[in-house]
Amino acid sequence: MTPCLPDGPQARPEVESLHAYSAPLEGRRGLLRLDFNENTVGPSPKVVEAIRAIPADHYAIYPEYDGLREVVVASLGGMGLNPAHIGLFNGVDAALHALFHAYGAPGDRLLTTSPTFGYYSPCARMQGMAIEAIPYRGGDFAFPLEQIRAALNDPGGAGEPSGNWQPPRILLLCNPNNPTGTRLAPERILELAAAAPRTLVVVDELYEAFTGDSVLPPLLNLGAADAFSAHPNLLVLRSLAKTAGLAGLRIGFAIGAPALVDRISRVTGPYDINSFAVVAARAALADQAYVDGYVAEVLSARSWLLERLRAAGVRHHAAGGNYLLIWPSRPEAAVEAELRQAGILVRSMEGKPLIDGSLRVSLGTREQMARFWEAYQAIETSRISASP
Ligand SMILES: Cc1ncc(COP(=O)(O)O)c(C=O)c1O
Repeated sequence: MTPCLPDGPQARPEVESLHAYSAPLEGRRGLLRLDFNENTVGPSPKVVEAIRAIPADHYAIYPEYDGLREVVVASLGGMGLNPAHIGLFNGVDAALHALFHAYGAPGDRLLTTSPTFGYYSPCARMQGMAIEAIPYRGGDFAFPLEQIRAALNDPGGAGEPSGNWQPPRILLLCNPNNPTGTRLAPERILELAAAAPRTLVVVDELYEAFTGDSVLPPLLNLGAADAFSAHPNLLVLRSLAKTAGLAGLRIGFAIGAPALVDRISRVTGPYDINSFAVVAARAALADQAYVDGYVAEVLSARSWLLERLRAAGVRHHAAGGNYLLIWPSRPEAAVEAELRQAGILVRSMEGKPLIDGSLRVSLGTREQMARFWEAYQAIETSRISASP
């Protein structure tokens, strides 16, 4: 008889060596949340109306997804896309989890950049994959294109693979990158995908609406009946969390060749996306003007804050996305804590390669950034006047 283990049966070895992915998500309501790159004002009133209109008896029915893929296709411009190109997920995090589950086997390699979004690496590790994370380059965190190209190629020689060398199973590019904001031109991404046909090339475009460079327009502009026919190994991730203000409802999309989307969708449950998220997504996608207005407000607040940072001589780095990095004059964790006392949340990048010492500050409205800037200056000034 198998002995009874005090802490229950062991999980897979890969899981035994993991820690649960956790983020400081509790106790944030009521504060100015510049810590998770969320929409800082909430969704379109039409989303709120649509959710309120759900009859209570519908809560008892499993969700229906018919028509949502069509709405996503229409919102992306339609040309060369059909509903089979769209995978629906419980947030982009769930799409990431699914694609690693479908593609990553023990010993396979994930090729990505560093520092980047924190959930890629646990997804790879839970599959037993090896991670090759290539650092961004120089003071402006430029994309390491040559190194990524080289890592996709057999070091043994040009042409056919030689010996035991296997290409990376997955190449994951966050574009623009969270947290450095680094942008990579879509043409370069399409070249990388074409040069690595055996690698699943995933482009996480969560922040493309805020100063970004999506691969979709060049694909759709080709005018092909299937926008992904020349790139069957390319998958694009989009979410309604950050732009449309639906982070709490959880809905994201994976867009790619139908065969790819089908494989990834095989490893999800049948009802992973709940009915509220479906209703909210339809209403949000029908109100693009609201999202456009929010993005314009964020971009104007970004210019406003950048002017002040430059004038005050504060070290900072801003590229793509609705966030920027600021290096305070003393340990970032202490400044983060003082801002929290002032009711403002930002994210310390302590311990992250290349950007240790910085704070990531999400961008909201002009008024919110003015509130942040006032508090930040007060904290920095009080420290200067308090020093001997
Ligand atoms: C780069 C990136 N990808 C994916 C996600 C997760 O997106 P979602 O809320 O749709 O799961 C985040 C959230 O912060 C992110 O920054």
